[in-house]
This record gives sequence, structure tokens and C-alpha cells, in this order.
Amino acid sequence: MSQKIFPKNFIWGAATASYQIEGAAYQDGRGLSVWDMFCRQPGKVFLGNTGDVACDHYHRYLEDIKLMSDIGLQAYRLSISWPRVIPDGIGKINEKGLDFYEKLIDSLLEKNIQPWVTLFHWDYPYELYCKGGWLNRDCSDWFASYSRVIVDRLSDRVSHWITLNEPQCFIELGHHLGNHAPGLKLELSDLLLITHNTLLSHGKAVQIIRSHAKKNPKIGASIVGVVSIPSTETSENIEAAKNKMFSISKKDFLNNTWFADPMILGKYPDDGCELFKENLPKNIDKDLEIINQPLDFFGTNIYHGDYVQAKSNGQFEAIPMLDGSPLTTMNWNITPEAFYWGPRFYYERYQLPIIVTENGMANTDLLQIDGKVHDPQRIDFLTRYLREYHRAIEDGVVIDGYFLWSLLDNFEWEHGYKQRFGIIYVDYQSLKRTPKDSAYWYKEVISSNGGILFK
Ligand code: GCO
Repeated sequence: MSQKIFPKNFIWGAATASYQIEGAAYQDGRGLSVWDMFCRQPGKVFLGNTGDVACDHYHRYLEDIKLMSDIGLQAYRLSISWPRVIPDGIGKINEKGLDFYEKLIDSLLEKNIQPWVTLFHWDYPYELYCKGGWLNRDCSDWFASYSRVIVDRLSDRVSHWITLNEPQCFIELGHHLGNHAPGLKLELSDLLLITHNTLLSHGKAVQIIRSHAKKNPKIGASIVGVVSIPSTETSENIEAAKNKMFSISKKDFLNNTWFADPMILGKYPDDGCELFKENLPKNIDKDLEIINQPLDFFGTNIYHGDYVQAKSNGQFEAIPMLDGSPLTTMNWNITPEAFYWGPRFYYERYQLPIIVTENGMANTDLLQIDGKVHDPQRIDFLTRYLREYHRAIEDGVVIDGYFLWSLLDNFEWEHGYKQRFGIIYVDYQSLKRTPKDSAYWYKEVISSNGGILFK
């Protein structure tokens, strides 16, 4: 019997985001982001941590790229800090900021690592926030102009683009619950307007990339939403899980369809329209045409899922986790089957090749007495998830790649530096990097194209 491996052109990568790793928050002309301001509000972030220094990647990117190359990464997903390149969000360009990204990308290419560029991973320019931010009717044009600057400068070298990272989260956590920047608690009609403006920004950015990129672009977004897993794999439970995964039952934004349907299917989902009907933005048909741009892949961040079963009345219900179920230090359930059912259901509905643009676990990693970081839990976690990913491929789901979150331990938003997601340990005092056991393991995964996962 031939050995199991991943498809020939499958891409193995790792991901990070600008505010979480770069630091140099006040250097070389960078403007402020909403996260700089949010971190300064007492009590918002664990121990008052900030991204001022973070992993100091801005100064240490060459060392980091060397580590990526040692691991054998084929691709690296990074994000651009909008206020680093356009300090006020619109208008004057900061050449030093753009230079940084040019050097970063050139250095990646020298090591044969494909750059995957995310245009927006939450560090919104503070100056634009002061002009109303995502609520301002001009905000999608601001995003389009910013995208144009990046595409003009980098698209001779970059071909993979992600417009937005997890719009669900920066809207729900940042503008509704208030525990992420900018820390607002807005009403439903404002939230629906923000959602709409965000989607319009996505559509306009895709248009810009398609029409101006110098290299044939591959474009997607990174969607997150709760994945539903059938409690047992009967046809009733599979149907129930799929229905749950693509339904909107609560007036919040942590769902899949409110974002992915307009982007890919060209309309908001009926159940959401019914639920939100009093508060929906008006006259949006033309906007939906802009939002609905052809995409090349379905990017998604998957960390866990909920078990779902069919009820006798044809409805569905999520099953509470059993006592003592395995958890990461984020208190997220460890549910490897999410890596089978998530990709399968997304593929069935949206018919685009799947790329998981983030997956990984936070763990109690520490530099141990032998000077190493042993993280067998992470290796076990990733092995289980990737086996399920492979099972989805075997069952016909088109899956083109995988990005592990994260390359480095980094600033985990409101949890500050407490949560460690990296396969490389970072000592935040000395800024020394130490590859964890999982980094060495991932190297083997990549070089065997997944073969060692099945040993
Ligand atoms: C997100 C972001 C990342 C996180 C990661 C772990 O999903 O919240 O994309 O920036 O750090 O997901 O929570």
C-alpha cells in the first residue's frame, strides 16, 4: 500500500500578523493604530501589555526568515500594518514603512518562501477611527486607496492576497462586546452598517488587486465562524451540523454566512435578513455586486468546533462538552473533527478550494531546564487536526494548503503575552527565539509532505 501524503502542490506555511509581532510602534514614521490606543486603557489587556515591542520583528525579520527557512516553510502569511505605510490611513505615504515590507518580501523570496499578504489584520489607523472608522460611508474607498498603494508596490513580487482577517471578530469583539480595539459597544444597526462597509471594502480591494496586480493574483479572505461537527456521522446528524453551521440564530456576528454569502454567493442569507430586518442598511443591491467578486480560494481560520445533533423535529442542537474534555490554555475545545467537517461543509457550499489560513494551539510552553521547549501537546493537537484535514482531501474536498498559527509566540490581543501560540518560543525580555519541539516536528511534516503524520 502506498504511503499517505498530502497532494503534490499542497502548500505548508505559517502565519503571523503585524501588530502581534512587529513592535517598533513609534519608529520610522508609523502612525497610530486603534490597538496602540486600546492597550493604553487600564484593564483592557492582560497586565497592561502592549504591542510596542512585541517580538521586535521589525528589526529582527532577517533572523525570523532564517528560522522559517530552517523549518522549510514554503509560504508565510504576514499582514501589513496600514498605519505604518499610510500613517493617517489616507493621504501621505510613509516610504520607510513601505520599504520595510519590500525588504521583508524580497528576503522571503530569496529563501524561496512564498509571501501571502493580508491587507487588514485589525490594526486600523487611529486617524481614520477618529473620522468614524468603519461607520463612515467613505471607509471602503479609504481601504481601496490603501490597497492600491500596496498592490502598486508589491504585486510584482506577491501573488497571494487576503483582503480581511476574521471580520467576524474585529466587528463582534471590537465594536460590539468591546473587549478588542477600538473597544466600542455599538447598537445593532451600527454593527450591520459596519459589516456592510467592511464587505464593501473587501469587494473594492478585490477589484483593485484584480485590475492592478502585476503578477496574476490569487485572492481570498480569512473567514472564521463556528464549525459544526456531527455528534455521530449519521446522515441526520450530518445534515443537522451543516444546517447549524450555515444558520444565523443570534443577533451577533460570530457566524459564517453573514460574511461569506455576500462575498461568494452575492446575497445576505435569508435567515439573517429576517432576524436583522429592522436594522438592515437600505438600497444595497449595487453594493452587493461590488462585494460579490470572484475569489480564488476560501481562506478560513479553524481552531475548534461544536458537536451538533439532529432533534426529532428536524431542528438541530449543539451538545455541551462533556466534563473534563480537553482544552487549550485559551479554554478552547480540542476538536480535530472540525478540520474534516469545516473544510467539507465550506467546500460544499462555496465551491472554492479551501486553505486553512490559521490553526494551532496555545499551550503552557516554557523554556525548560535543558534549555529547550518541549510541547508534545501541540504536536499531538496538530497531528490529530492534520489527519482529519487529510481525510477531507481523501473524501474529495479540494484543499490547497495550510498555515499554522503561529510562527512565533506573540501578542495575543486582550491576553497580551500570556497565551503562547508559536512553534518558536519568544523570551520577551531578551527577545531570544527558541524553536520548540513542534518547530522541528513541523519541519519533518513539511519535508515528508505530511507523511510522518501517519506513522
Ligand atoms: C484571530 C486572529 C489571530 C489570533 C489567533 C489566535 O483569530 O484571533 O486571526 O490574530 O492571534 O487566531 O487567537
